[in-house]
Amino acid sequence: MISTKLTELFNIDLPIIMAPMFLVSDENMVKAAVKNHIIGTFPTLNYRETAKLDSVLGNLNQFLKNTKNPGTYGVNLITQKSNPYYKSHLKVCIENKVPFFITSLGNPEEVIKKAHSYGAKVFCDVTNLKHAEKVASLGADGIIAVGQGAGGHAGPEPLQILIPLLKQNIPDIPVIAAGGISTGNALHSVLILGAAGASVGTSFIATEEAPVSSDYKNAIVNAKTEDIVMTERISGTPSTIINTAYAKKIGYKQNWIERKLSSNSKTKKYFKMLVQMKGMKKLEKSVKPGNYKNLWIAGKSVQFIDQILSIENLILKMKIELENSITQNKF
Ligand SMILES: Cc1cc2nc3c(=O)[nH]c(=O)nc-3n(C[C@H](O)[C@H](O)[C@H](O)COP(=O)(O)O)c2cc1C
Repeated sequence: MISTKLTELFNIDLPIIMAPMFLVSDENMVKAAVKNHIIGTFPTLNYRETAKLDSVLGNLNQFLKNTKNPGTYGVNLITQKSNPYYKSHLKVCIENKVPFFITSLGNPEEVIKKAHSYGAKVFCDVTNLKHAEKVASLGADGIIAVGQGAGGHAGPEPLQILIPLLKQNIPDIPVIAAGGISTGNALHSVLILGAAGASVGTSFIATEEAPVSSDYKNAIVNAKTEDIVMTERISGTPSTIINTAYAKKIGYKQNWIERKLSSNSKTKKYFKMLVQMKGMKKLEKSVKPGNYKNLWIAGKSVQFIDQILSIENLILKMKIELENSITQNKF
């Protein structure tokens, strides 16, 4: 139906990546994405034990082999120094010949070198031109432009600025748009801006397959754009969340002692690790049923998410909307 650099590179039907989401995207969701001919990804941190990660990757490789006309799958690696799992997870991924990587937050050089040794592709999350030029110079195969309103660590720029800016300066590799895309119309709009596809996160939380509580899914369905706020209270780095009663109670900023500890050169590595560990624990509780201290990560695309669908139907809905937008839109 539509051919872009992304669909050509991965031989997929629709230019959509199901984005990696901490504590949300799992093996089942990735299989559903692969079965429905798109790219399904998950953060390796969702399987912290290396033996478990190894077995999930083995299952996914098998699934790719056994599926007719499959999409593909990928993993997200947090390449930041404060991620204690980075080295061991990268090793397991390379051993399993993972076909696709998304890197975020740090320097992707090692991932790119190792992935390229067997022909895998590496896309890097960026929020500005400087970082995009850096990853392109290191050999990234694609850039994921994370814009305003994205679920998680949203960028400061609107996609209408970021995508053309990256395309103008780095014309040769695909730029994927991330942030606020939950409909085929929005997907069409980023293609018009020059993106080769979209990385879609928040919409996939409100799916039957997502292994999170129905409270979280319903909160996504009920939330409006003004219910999404930025907080530093999860990982230290600002992240978008639903403004729950608990989020309001704990506030959105780090206090001055926390700021000092995370900027001091002697303490910053360990303090950041500690904040992230505590944040992970809070998030882990939040995705389970019956929790009242809810910190639910979600982006501003909640505005247009009004039902819980199967992954198959969500992809189909976006596909039909894209087709309609291409063939029927009058400007
Ligand atoms: C619940 C949740 C968890 C996320 N976890 C991660 C993560 O672990 N690593 C990462 O690189 N991005 C993470 N993201 C960001 C997504 O990969 C993606 O960039 C974003 O969801 C796209 O914006 P959208 O939510 O508006 O579609 C997360 C997003 C959400 C909503």
